[in-house]
Amino acid sequence: MPVALLLLLALCNGIRVDGEESNGHCDLKSTLDSRPHSVSILEFGAIGDGKTLNTIAFQNAIFYLKSFADKGGAQLYVPPGRWLTGSFSLTSHLTLFLEKGAVILGSQDPSHWDIVEPLPSYGRGTELPGKRYRSLINGYMLHDVVITGDNGTIDGQGSVWWEWFTSHSLNYTRPHLVEFVSSEYVLVSNITFLNAPAYNIHPVYCSNVHIHGISVYAPPQSPYTIGIVPDSSNKVCIEDCSISMGHDAIALKSGWDEYGIAYGRPTTNVHIRRVQLQSSSGSCLAFGSEMSGGISDVQVQQLHLYDSLSGIEFRTTKGRGGYIKEILISDVNMLNVETALSAIGNCRSHPNDKFDPNALPVLEKITLQNIVGTNINMAGNFIGIQESPFTSICLSNISLSIDSASSDSWQCSYVSGFSESIFPKPCPELENFNASSSCFSLLKPNGRAAIL
Ligand SMILES: *[C@@H]1O[C@H](CO)[C@@H](O)[C@H](O)[C@H]1NC(C)=O
Ligand SMILES: *[C@@H]1O[C@H](CO)[C@@H](O)[C@H](O)[C@H]1NC(C)=O
Ligand SMILES: *[C@@H]1O[C@H](CO)[C@@H](O)[C@H](O)[C@H]1NC(C)=O
Ligand SMILES: *[C@@H]1O[C@H](CO)[C@@H](O)[C@H](O)[C@H]1NC(C)=O
Ligand SMILES: *[C@@H]1O[C@H](CO)[C@@H](O)[C@H](O)[C@H]1NC(C)=O
Repeated sequence: MPVALLLLLALCNGIRVDGEESNGHCDLKSTLDSRPHSVSILEFGAIGDGKTLNTIAFQNAIFYLKSFADKGGAQLYVPPGRWLTGSFSLTSHLTLFLEKGAVILGSQDPSHWDIVEPLPSYGRGTELPGKRYRSLINGYMLHDVVITGDNGTIDGQGSVWWEWFTSHSLNYTRPHLVEFVSSEYVLVSNITFLNAPAYNIHPVYCSNVHIHGISVYAPPQSPYTIGIVPDSSNKVCIEDCSISMGHDAIALKSGWDEYGIAYGRPTTNVHIRRVQLQSSSGSCLAFGSEMSGGISDVQVQQLHLYDSLSGIEFRTTKGRGGYIKEILISDVNMLNVETALSAIGNCRSHPNDKFDPNALPVLEKITLQNIVGTNINMAGNFIGIQESPFTSICLSNISLSIDSASSDSWQCSYVSGFSESIFPKPCPELENFNASSSCFSLLKPNGRAAIL
């Protein structure tokens, strides 16, 4: 059999996850079952010239492949070419496979993007009140969906959206490249994402999401572009990715003020490892600021953060409610990062004036350890909330070389915690020497959160 065909067969897969709870979600063994059927987008009249609109071809192909859902699923094969399209929806038990040299291009005509209701946990579009554009590739209430390939590309051609955003000429909140809503067993791997209008990958109300081996890029000046946004989702693994964004590279979220509190769906059981992140105007790794459904049980290892405004940042504000807790981040290398670590309790930005100012967020049990940084401007900026101080912040084995003569490497208010082996010396609020006995750790045999 020719090698290319063997490869194709090997990659033509559906997901099965076996095994028991382990230390982190990435350690679960996920097996790929092969899809017994495959069709090429060419069979549905698609033309890969970068000019012909192929939305109908994608919609028809996926409609056809729906009939294979109960027969082991099917693959939609996208060969090399430039495949212009508007937004289209995936189906369950489907693999979208992008061959090397295959580029799915997002249309620059907004009328090719559907307009949909806002997400219930946000109550409105995040950028403008009211509805929002649907993502280029989307899934709703799906089970077992794969987007993969031999490093094919999904290019949102977002420059027009960035201009409309900046000049305030949008009528609805900008779309994302890939969004899964209320779906489970989702895999995105071996793909390059370019120039998203806003977010690149947005799993919301999902479980068992695996994102592996992707490259994600948007230019430094692209406004509020974000790489991956796990949102009110459970059991998420992100590994071996390289992400460079205008705003945040990875941002964990869970809904906005009264809408997020009412919806009450946390982001939990998230495992992130071996990722390279860059953020020009945001954070490499951000928690919030929308976190009203709660964010907990997050394990992060082996981060390389570079050329960024902020390294790791926790964000919240009064009126959010919710919590960020039981977070363990270790083995981080930072190079040329303005502010290495921060936790900010005054992010403001509310969906409307109906938020409850007494809905106080909780931020506690956060461990940051084994961090080395070079050419850092500020080591730590911790601004807690007077009525709900940040507690049990644990810092251990952190060494940051500060680039300037800045006297205030650390700033702290309404925060308390423990630290050991920290350079430069942290603020007194974080200087209790009880680290080993009081630090939060996730590394328990059953993978559950625990205070050692
Ligand atoms: C995929 O393509 C991107 C862009 O061309 C490149 O930066 C990246 O290294 C490639 N990834 C792999 C695994 O070959
Ligand atoms: C917003 O609506 C106005 C009025 O209908 C229209 O002229 C404009 O093109 C729309 N903007 C975008 C980006 O679609
Ligand atoms: C991604 O590509 C690598 C090497 O090209 C391959 O080993 C791996 O199986 C692929 N992963 C998936 C999920 O297709
Ligand atoms: C401290 O952190 C550095 C950098 O991550 C690591 O190489 C070293 O092993 C850590 N030391 C201890 C005692 O864990
Ligand atoms: C350290 O922990 C012990 C026992 O839990 C406690 O009595 C003591 O006050 C703590 N010290 C500091 C500086 O927090």
